[in-house]
Amino acid sequence: MENLEKIQTAARIIRENPGKGMAFTGAGISVESGIPPFRGADGLWSKVDPSFIEIDTFRRAPEECWSKIRELFYDHWGQAKPNAAHIRLAEMLNRGLLAGIVTQNIDCLHQRAGAPEEKISEFHGTLDSLICMKCSAVYGPDHSLLEQNLPSCPKCGGVLKPDFVFFGEGIPEKAFHKAFYLAERCAWCLIIGTSGEVMPACEVPRTAHRHGAKIIEINPAPTTFTSSITDVFLQGKATEMMEALAAESALS
Ligand code: OAD
Ligand code: ZN
Repeated sequence: MENLEKIQTAARIIRENPGKGMAFTGAGISVESGIPPFRGADGLWSKVDPSFIEIDTFRRAPEECWSKIRELFYDHWGQAKPNAAHIRLAEMLNRGLLAGIVTQNIDCLHQRAGAPEEKISEFHGTLDSLICMKCSAVYGPDHSLLEQNLPSCPKCGGVLKPDFVFFGEGIPEKAFHKAFYLAERCAWCLIIGTSGEVMPACEVPRTAHRHGAKIIEINPAPTTFTSSITDVFLQGKATEMMEALAAESALS
């Protein structure tokens, strides 16, 4: 019952400020699509050392890094399908309730759920393209390039790198500006499935809060946001909470 009241409160915030919301998502929204999170007991970083996606290591030993990248990111993540939370969020966007989505995820599941590309800020880049370390050419999802042990640029022969943010790299400029543009203007921010432990991404909802936005958070466990900036904490899985929220916001 307590959660139902909170869902009603969250739905009221959404209904009263249509078009003035943003979503901020992390690995947790894709857990029910079969993609493991990064932190916690089942997280990727508890099983593998993340140095293979450090930019200096990649520069030194790209072929070794690629074999891990292929195995951990491309082999099974490519099979993942959007779940009900991605779909409900895309509906909120397409029905004009949300102004945009800022995601830390590189799995493209928001787009595959029907969210328009131009309304998404991929704060940590994407798995869907490869970028040449030498001439900066960008290639779309091209599986023939991934088959090479060391994917290389068809134009200049340079090493190709997945176009997501490695440790030691900056945030893509366009995504960064889009994210903070939304955060400074939104009336509400819906945080879904992120531990909020990674800088500067975690500054996005904090900026929204500083600018007066109401913060709604969905997560099975409390996070660094919960006791600091969250107004309405919906404790539970992304799919269940998004279904309930969509029903209450008259989205169904
Ligand atoms: P984390 O792995 O740090 O956090 C995942 C969050 O999802 C946790 O708070 C979980 O409680 C929550 N969660 C688990 N199952 C869930 C479910 N079914 N529904 C909703 N939430 C659930 O992932 P992020 O916060 O996204 O960076 O991590 C941020 C960044 O750290 C990533 O973008 C990545 C990583 O290093 C780069 O790759 C640059
Ligand atoms: Zn090149």
